[in-house]
Amino acid sequence: MTSGFARYGSLARYKFAWIPYVVVADAEAAHHVLVKNARAYEKSPNYAGLKILLGNGLLTSEGEFWRKQRKLAQPAFHRERLAGFVNEMTSCTGDMLTEWSAAPEAKIDLHRAMMRLTFRIVGKTLLSVDLDGEARAVGEALDVALHWANDYVESVVKIPPSWPTPKNRRFARAKDTLDTLVMRVVADRRLAMARGESTPNDLLQMLLEAKDADTGETMNDEQLKHELLTLVAAGHETTANALSFALHLLAKNTDVRDKLRAEVVSVLGERTPTLQDLPKLSYTLQVVEEALRLYPPAWVFERIALEDDVVGGFTIPKGTILGVAPFVMHRNPKYFPDPERFDPSRFDKATQTERPKHAYIPFGGGARTCIGNAFALMELQLLLAMIVRGWDIDPPADYQLKLEPSVTLRPEGGMPVRLRAVTPRRSTPEERATAR
Ligand code: HEM
Repeated sequence: MTSGFARYGSLARYKFAWIPYVVVADAEAAHHVLVKNARAYEKSPNYAGLKILLGNGLLTSEGEFWRKQRKLAQPAFHRERLAGFVNEMTSCTGDMLTEWSAAPEAKIDLHRAMMRLTFRIVGKTLLSVDLDGEARAVGEALDVALHWANDYVESVVKIPPSWPTPKNRRFARAKDTLDTLVMRVVADRRLAMARGESTPNDLLQMLLEAKDADTGETMNDEQLKHELLTLVAAGHETTANALSFALHLLAKNTDVRDKLRAEVVSVLGERTPTLQDLPKLSYTLQVVEEALRLYPPAWVFERIALEDDVVGGFTIPKGTILGVAPFVMHRNPKYFPDPERFDPSRFDKATQTERPKHAYIPFGGGARTCIGNAFALMELQLLLAMIVRGWDIDPPADYQLKLEPSVTLRPEGGMPVRLRAVTPRRSTPEERATAR
């Protein structure tokens, strides 16, 4: 997959079947669509497949309904809340690394391992349940369901999901697995509440207790299911993909890996990271940001024009679909010189050159920006630090990364690697002093 940037420039128009489609890879134009004139756009009909899967949750809803739901969920992602998630994130990662230590030279599918880890973290932080036993079944169900959603929007003739074709039947089974899991978690919590047991103060509890300001109504089970499914789906595959890509880039750029490891060792030694360590792990964050630049898991997100507009000097007739494409934008040499080079120093806060705000949009922009932005960055920083400190993760010599640009950008066919435990050298007193 190439970015197509060099060939088509920062705004490219073509037809997707009979519908006009414009790829947006220009920061000004993205700002216009996502912020300045956002009211003239809504999510494109290409989210129809996801909507059948996830229902009317935060990712796919619109208008007043979306605004109300976003306001309800937002406090679960406030900074003070996120601080409480650090322990869950590091203890799940610790468990994975302990398993790795039992077979330190193992060959594994790194992407699958990251999916299992981030799924467990979403379950523990947002729902306060350990879903580890469910990870494989849910991973497979999500895989089938997301592929179905992607094929559904890409097919010109849409076969209704209720028709019993083999593909639709597989989708129905996968959706059932996901729905059943979420509804079981909700039912268990309602039971605990009915028994007067003490309940965790998590996102699930907030959504269960949230009341409509006008009517005093609480959310019904169907809506709860939509919101929870959305958060579980949006909140783990994206992060798992980002971690897999980051670790792949580090395997190919051992100088960067060594520098990252030196930072982690000097800041943490052998300790588990805490919230207070995050600002000191600044190079780790730069590596995360650069990996998200080259391989943004949300590689494109779409809007449809509700009225005629002008974007970047182009007339955009009503009904045009705009694909705001981080994958292409992040390779625009105007914002990122020598764009294919993996260079975390681009995000060095001290030296980084000015670039327009919407030139770097792995989490989108404007009101519909990712609700899990800070959650994901924190998770990626913590997990990457812990993994890289003690492990080299190398692909086979003949491995070629192939990208699968589906609902998310993921490595096609998984990511085979061989684990190798390393004994990190101890930091010098000077390094520890600089890290303080
Ligand atoms: C590396 C990880 C992640 C990436 C790259 C990412 C990317 C994005 C992007 C680009 C959007 C905006 C889509 C649009 O404007 O059409 C979005 C929305 C969203 N994301 Fe994330 N995301 C990540 C992690 C998470 C996490 C951890 C959660 C939750 C725990 C989450 C939940 C959501 C939700 C609910 C929305 C819809 C927000 C709304 O419209 O109000 N995401 N994400």
